[in-house]
Amino acid sequence: MQDIQRQIEDLKKQIRYHDYQYYCLDNPTISDFEYDNLFKKLQLLEKQNPQFITKDSPTQRVSGVPSSTFNRVKHIVPMLSLDNSYSTEDILLWHERVKKNIDMQIEFIVEPKIDGLSASLIYKNNSFVTGATRGDGEYGEDVTENLKTIKNIPLKLLSDTIFETFEVRGEVYINKKDFQNLNDTLIDGSVAKFANPRNAAAGSLRQKNPQITAERKLSFLVHSFGQTTNLQIEKHSQFIKLCSKLGFSIQKDIKVCKSIDEVINFLNYLQNNRDNLPYEIDGAVVKINDYKLQKIIGYTNKSPKWAIAYKFPARQATTKLLSIKLQVGRTGVITPVANLQPVQLSGVTISNATLHNFDEIERLNVNTGDDVVIERAGEVIPKIIKVAQKNTEGIFLPPMFCPSCNSKIFKEDDDVYYNCINPSCPAQFKRMLIHFVSRDAMNIDGFGEVVVEQLLKTNKLKTFADIYKLTFDDIVILDLFKEKKANNLIKAIVKSKENPLSKLIYALGIRHIGEKSANILAEKFKNIDNLIKASYDELVSTNEVGPILAQSIIDFFTNQQTLKMIEELKVLGINTTEPEKDTSFSPLENKTFVLTGELKTLTRKEAENQISALGGKATSSVSKKTNYVVVGENPGSKYQKALNLGIKTLTEQEFKKLLNIN
Ligand code: IVH
Repeated sequence: MQDIQRQIEDLKKQIRYHDYQYYCLDNPTISDFEYDNLFKKLQLLEKQNPQFITKDSPTQRVSGVPSSTFNRVKHIVPMLSLDNSYSTEDILLWHERVKKNIDMQIEFIVEPKIDGLSASLIYKNNSFVTGATRGDGEYGEDVTENLKTIKNIPLKLLSDTIFETFEVRGEVYINKKDFQNLNDTLIDGSVAKFANPRNAAAGSLRQKNPQITAERKLSFLVHSFGQTTNLQIEKHSQFIKLCSKLGFSIQKDIKVCKSIDEVINFLNYLQNNRDNLPYEIDGAVVKINDYKLQKIIGYTNKSPKWAIAYKFPARQATTKLLSIKLQVGRTGVITPVANLQPVQLSGVTISNATLHNFDEIERLNVNTGDDVVIERAGEVIPKIIKVAQKNTEGIFLPPMFCPSCNSKIFKEDDDVYYNCINPSCPAQFKRMLIHFVSRDAMNIDGFGEVVVEQLLKTNKLKTFADIYKLTFDDIVILDLFKEKKANNLIKAIVKSKENPLSKLIYALGIRHIGEKSANILAEKFKNIDNLIKASYDELVSTNEVGPILAQSIIDFFTNQQTLKMIEELKVLGINTTEPEKDTSFSPLENKTFVLTGELKTLTRKEAENQISALGGKATSSVSKKTNYVVVGENPGSKYQKALNLGIKTLTEQEFKKLLNIN
């Protein structure tokens, strides 16, 4: 080995050691300054001698280029899921089942169940080569470049023993504090906030640009393994210790238990101390420690029978209801929102909760000044569960006038919602603008709530058409904007002019018109003029357009201001036509699908779009005419109905195979 190469290897070794001390053990042994010097030295030597750069060098963490898709990778050993339990009784029943197969004392290991997403890391000859998400358990997405940016994932195992193949599995997650910071940085409204740390971790790991993942402060904790060679250990507790030696972070609150009573005590301990952990946990996992016993107990095709997840109940807190704010939505619906005395709930300060509608206020019998119990089940916005102590006598009455424009409030007798029906209500207009520019509508990147609010203040936005009249000078003066950001926003506005008619129809915010009906209308009428001219009869004869939708469209386009604004949009160059669909490939022609349960690798909308792209139709209820029912996790009654009617059911994998999606 040449001298320079030896020097590079030595520097890499030192840096790996210090990374481990800092990121895994939280115990740095050198100053940041000394560390930076080592790093710079390595960078320089590699720059001067690029032939010695290896993929597992600490300088190569953020080296991938942005990609448009992730490749699909097959998990050689499937990545299974865990059975859930919700009570001590469930754990005891699981123990009874386990005991049926084993006639000896059993050792358990209990670990916190981290609320993140599962990932697999494959090391070949000790170097990290491929990393993937769990996906559907059989196939995942190749997110190697993004995983490499996670600082506590070793790019090379800290071991002199060579492992030909070593596949570690664990959870990618974001610490509570980093989650809060991340959401705080998203407050300029250009990117939607994440609802919970799990979503933040998943969204960050699945970034197309590894640079962004690198900025997100993700972490990884080991919980299991896949394909491995040379693993000469007998127990999971030994595997965890080995991983720690190899350079991985492991959980601190893990306990080997000799009896089920000890297991239950530790589960209670974790439940009571979950707020002290730096990351969010949604339960704990009980595993049989001994691998030989695990093998005897075996698996179902979904999960190991030798392990069970114990899910914690949703966290609750009691606080005072200070006031009830009234929010006006884009369609004029008035929603009551609880303004609470700030209270800590699972490490987050809560000061708002949703109250849904005025019927809910009546049902809860809640009023300003009462002490209320709030609950958070995964989501950031909590809800009020009940009144803990009634401090008031009066009842909170629905408003008679709009809190924004003071117009008279209107309510249909058989409806729970109160509406402001003033078409020029400023609060509604603000919400309409936010909707118009949002991702699923005109998709103007960088145009969020805060930008809308500021532009409204400068009086630059009076109609949707005004968005397309904005100039660089109008934007660059806004808070948090500089030249580059202003240019990007202008580019995004211009790009949105090319959207198909379906997006524009949805963006206009016509009452009752969701994305699906917007697609159907665009498909049938082809351009906005045909839609404006359409008669009631023509509209109701359209698939899935009923009398309410038809009337709503007619009402919308009778407004002269609206028609004027649409003419203006045309003059400003906004596309108002729907491109012809390529109908040559319609393998699902006339096939109807119903989706039930949660799909792991696709959102509902993505699945529905894929179905319609191939000529099929996604409907909401199962009948004899349904061709396929796609069954995700925790399916609803539609699954049972499909079985009763003998309709073909598809797992997520089968569905994707049928549609030929990777
Ligand atoms: S063991 C065969 N241990 O929970 C499954 N999983 O709900 C082996 N999880 O897919 C996984 N913390 O992503 C295991 N300490 C832990 C875990 C854990 C979180 C996740 C994992 C799994 C999911 C199942």
